[in-house]
Amino acid sequence: MRGKKKIGFVPTMGAFHEGHLSLLRAAQRACDYQVVSLFVNPLQFGPEEDFDRYPRDLPRDRAWALANHVDLLFLPKADEIVPVDLETFVSVESLSRRWEGASRPQHFRGVATIVAKLFQIVRPDIAYFGQKDYQQATIIRQMVRDLYFDIKIKVMPTLREKDGLAKSSRNALLSHEDRAAATVLYRALCSVQQSIRAGTTDCHLLKKGIESIFKKEPRAQLDYAAFCDPNRLEPIRHVTGQAVLLLAAKVGSVRLIDNLLVRPHSAWRNAR
Ligand code: PAJ
Repeated sequence: MRGKKKIGFVPTMGAFHEGHLSLLRAAQRACDYQVVSLFVNPLQFGPEEDFDRYPRDLPRDRAWALANHVDLLFLPKADEIVPVDLETFVSVESLSRRWEGASRPQHFRGVATIVAKLFQIVRPDIAYFGQKDYQQATIIRQMVRDLYFDIKIKVMPTLREKDGLAKSSRNALLSHEDRAAATVLYRALCSVQQSIRAGTTDCHLLKKGIESIFKKEPRAQLDYAAFCDPNRLEPIRHVTGQAVLLLAAKVGSVRLIDNLLVRPHSAWRNAR
């Protein structure tokens, strides 16, 4: 329709930080009207996970939305969006089983279901997601393709703290000592980048390097370090083209994830 206003949508679970802000700014640049949803989605937390202690501060988040000129802050009611008699779920099958999915079995089913419901309500033209949650963004892209959602998905780069730690609402749950230890994820990503630049492409060797960095950080426990093809997220043995390194670790009692898009040094040279 000509003259139709473009709606940009940023789904979130609140506890806003600069990562969320970068998605909002991208929406503001490209769209006429921005909707930010804030809903701590119970469907994506496992029974042993941190749903109860997930950071929540509605007054602060409301003020943030106002100060940053959000057109609509959408606060769905839990019993309306996830009624007790909910029967329909969206499951993006094999992409949801790997990596985060292996450690968090119902997680992506919960994410895909809630995002599909939010898409139906908000009907955006463009929806914004962060590269920080790489597997999540890949699953949403797949869902949009499979279910013919007429929505463009934009994935924005990961925003980081000065010391490299990816911004995340969960960082607030880290103790002082664990916060310092949490940079181990970024240090591991940087070391991989350096090794690839120096010519290492064997994922087994690269992974050994990551493990030795984690061994020196007793507060952190590596869950997985996976080199994958960037679309299907299937494991690869050699970095021969564009690839993604997915990383998950527990620091103290907080589970953190990060990732890095990599390609071999030769591909960088050829791309110039
Ligand atoms: P939440 O963790 O609040 O994140 C909302 C969006 O912000 C996601 O797309 C996430 O990838 C992005 N984001 C988080 N940290 C970021 C960072 N450091 N840099 C850039 N973007 C970042 O992800 C969720 O909520 C939920 O799973 C949701 C999609 C809302 C479904 O419930």
